Amino acid sequence: MAKIESFVDTSSGLYKKQYKQSISALEKISIIRTEIAEGGSEKARALHKKRGKLLARERIALVLDEESPFLEIAPFAAYDIYDNKAPSAGIITGIGKISGHLVMIVANDATVKGGTYLPLTIKKHIRAQKIAMENHLPCLYIVDSGGVFLPLQEDIFPDKEHFGNIFYNQARLSKEGLLQVAVVAGASTAGGAYVPAMCDQTVIVKNTGAIFIGGPPLVKAATGEDVTVEELGGADVHTRISGVADYMAEDDEDALIKVREIFSSLPQDKPYQLDRIKPSDPVYKADEIYGIIPTDLKKPFDSREIIARIVDSSKFDEFKPLYGRTIVTGFARIGGYLVGILSNNGVIFPDSADKGAHFVELCADRKIPILFLQNITGFMIGKAYERAGIARAGAKMINAVATADVPRFTIMIGNSYGAGNYAMCGRGYNPRFLWTWPAAKIAVMGGQQAADTLAQVKVNQLKRAGKSLTDEEIDELKKPILADYERQSSSLYSSARLWDDGIIDPAKTREYLMLAIEISSHNIDQSRQRYGIFRM
Ligand code: COA
Repeated sequence: MAKIESFVDTSSGLYKKQYKQSISALEKISIIRTEIAEGGSEKARALHKKRGKLLARERIALVLDEESPFLEIAPFAAYDIYDNKAPSAGIITGIGKISGHLVMIVANDATVKGGTYLPLTIKKHIRAQKIAMENHLPCLYIVDSGGVFLPLQEDIFPDKEHFGNIFYNQARLSKEGLLQVAVVAGASTAGGAYVPAMCDQTVIVKNTGAIFIGGPPLVKAATGEDVTVEELGGADVHTRISGVADYMAEDDEDALIKVREIFSSLPQDKPYQLDRIKPSDPVYKADEIYGIIPTDLKKPFDSREIIARIVDSSKFDEFKPLYGRTIVTGFARIGGYLVGILSNNGVIFPDSADKGAHFVELCADRKIPILFLQNITGFMIGKAYERAGIARAGAKMINAVATADVPRFTIMIGNSYGAGNYAMCGRGYNPRFLWTWPAAKIAVMGGQQAADTLAQVKVNQLKRAGKSLTDEEIDELKKPILADYERQSSSLYSSARLWDDGIIDPAKTREYLMLAIEISSHNIDQSRQRYGIFRM
């Protein structure tokens, strides 16, 4: 592998301007992240602590091994949604080490709407379980929740990926032999009672933990029976009488110690031995990425400059460097792991799509994880390209990406528009993890193109009726479309809706990827591809 030669001039005015711009975008995200990390309102947090309970993030910090990282998933969920009153959608999810095991942790934040499940809370819980399933991770649920957020029941209860799917996933995870442990450190109400009930082992905290299918008010309304929380579903009832829980803990700290003991008796999983050598740092500094990302994403930049700041020793074995040059493909190492990388250097032409498909096949056949660095405005359009079969070439690449049974990771580093999103392993293509850089943009097409297209459709309609629009009227028509596209294509808008697993600091991309590859090695499909390599 040869070292990538960088042409970035770190002393230029443009570099410095872009660096500053990236830092300010990152700072905005960091401030929001710090606010989100506080959880619910000050009043709700104070009440929670007064009850002798730890906050959700304190619980997680306490249960993790001392040196363990915490790969938080979707911290920006529900940002600026639900009146911006549901930080992290009221649930903290992420991967960390407990007693030496990588574990998916799902913790309700009871300071946010009583830990109840809003639509995005469910989406996030299910995403965490999906990650656990795909990467063969055991799970810990720290339960403190009033169940379904009742006013929005129609968006939470009945559909395929709604509340019921959580318990279905628990059963499926169990069938896969993945340990699931629950700590009931607050309410575990109604359907939510099945979270601890469906775990392998459950700890319940004395005085604060309670599990019931119907709470005291519902029991009173339905049967007229007067019953206290403790009598109905407290720790004593469930560890001594019903058997729904297995261990009674004195308080949160005691419960989390118990959890660590439970995980310490779990035999170590044997991950698949991916091709790995001793890691080495990139030659170029990671923070230089800040100065490489253009302020205006319409301006192209050489994605090799990004690769050079992510991969070991900045070495890259480029595949077909002279062919289909708008897609860069090649092999490199990240944290010692051999990976295949695809990145964009412009719109996708038929030859670049063919090259992309060919390279993905090579990686899939050799069981090499694939990294997609998305900065794509779409496939090339126009008469010549339709005639050259751009749809056919694009379909091959999409097919190769969708069927490559190796861990795939996607980072949105710039634009993510149109079918380019699909070919470069967007969310619909099930990459194991997908992260977004702060300045990245995502939409079906650029705002201007969408506004022009819709205006053209309107003009054509009116023309059929013998009418027309003035230039001013056409501009007025375009304005709200442009504004909507601008608002909806930001990284925060995307992350709030779980179109990704979070917004990350571009300079930390390598760290995220190293952890992600390690996590993915716990589940590698070892069957061979069905066909040999098709040279495209
Ligand atoms: N749906 C919607 N909102 C709910 C809710 C539910 N199921 N349960 C609680 N909330 C809201 C409350 O309205 C309150 O909102 P606010 O902060 O905007 O005022 C917030 O959550 C906190 O509730 P509160 O009762 O003040 O907190 P608490 O810590 O004393 O009790 C619960 C929390 C969850 C134990 C308690 O609210 C409860 O038992 N809720 C009903 C649970 C239930 O029967 N669920 C059935 C769902 S299938």
